[in-house]
Amino acid sequence: MIKVDNLVKKYGDVAASNHLNCHFEKGKITVILGGSGSGKSTLLRQVVGLEKPDSGAVYFDGMDITIMHRKKLYEIRKKMGMLFQGSALFNYLNIYENIAFPLHEHTKIADSVIKTIVTMKLEMVGLRGTEHLMPSQLSGGMTKRVGLARAIVMDPEIIFYDEPTSGLDPISTGVIDKLIKDLNRALNITSVVVSHDIESCFRIADNIIILFFGEIIAMGAAEEIKNSKDLRVKQFINGEPEGPIPFTRTDKNYLDEILFY
Ligand SMILES: Nc1ncnc2c1ncn2[C@@H]1O[C@H](COP(=O)(O)OP(=O)(O)O)[C@@H](O)[C@H]1O
Ligand SMILES: [Mg+2]
Repeated sequence: MIKVDNLVKKYGDVAASNHLNCHFEKGKITVILGGSGSGKSTLLRQVVGLEKPDSGAVYFDGMDITIMHRKKLYEIRKKMGMLFQGSALFNYLNIYENIAFPLHEHTKIADSVIKTIVTMKLEMVGLRGTEHLMPSQLSGGMTKRVGLARAIVMDPEIIFYDEPTSGLDPISTGVIDKLIKDLNRALNITSVVVSHDIESCFRIADNIIILFFGEIIAMGAAEEIKNSKDLRVKQFINGEPEGPIPFTRTDKNYLDEILFY
């Protein structure tokens, strides 16, 4: 359903996306795995049309979204759900209003029906009865789950997750991993998860794409990746400190932090 075709995106001298070719298999969970600064978020932002590539294309059901008019792109966005890294909830709206927001914005559905839909979505993420709470009253894991309820409120065909478990404790991470899997199956949708968490990746992934300095160094079924003989892949999934992958990339870490706020 989504095909990335020779995608190139440069920031100055940094090739954040260096001739990327991949696709996300329908009905499956694809995890985009890579260290900090490997270009995961950049790829995701281009795939959902938040950022334009320098060259290449992203096809959604055969249509190139990188050259699409804004109106058509918004039409297609309704088929996409996105859980942002910071969840991006509206702090001044309660949980109910946050989740109902896309329905009020994009549909003419009656308020009573919206109420039923919101209750249903909250139930799906295990947060029934929290409608009246404000975002500031939620734990990290709950915040992600509210973001997820909002991401599925328009019944998307595909959900994108940017680092859904980063900053969470192991128990909350397990809850989110299970939700990603359960929702993928229950809603019969396609899921794309950006992550640097290798354990979490192998718990949920059908397919894995490994990014390394803007390039795809491995791509395939989770089982194939696990058994890969490629040194860079082996090093990455075993988390070995020695080997071809430099341990840190400080310019990138710095950039991550300032971009975050
Ligand atoms: N808006 C930006 N301006 C300049 N450089 C950027 C920007 N976004 C990302 N980069 C650079 O592109 C590379 C990939 O970044 P990113 O996609 O955020 O990586 P990841 O999500 O894997 O941590 C990094 O080297 C980063 O410094
Ligand atoms: Mg990122």
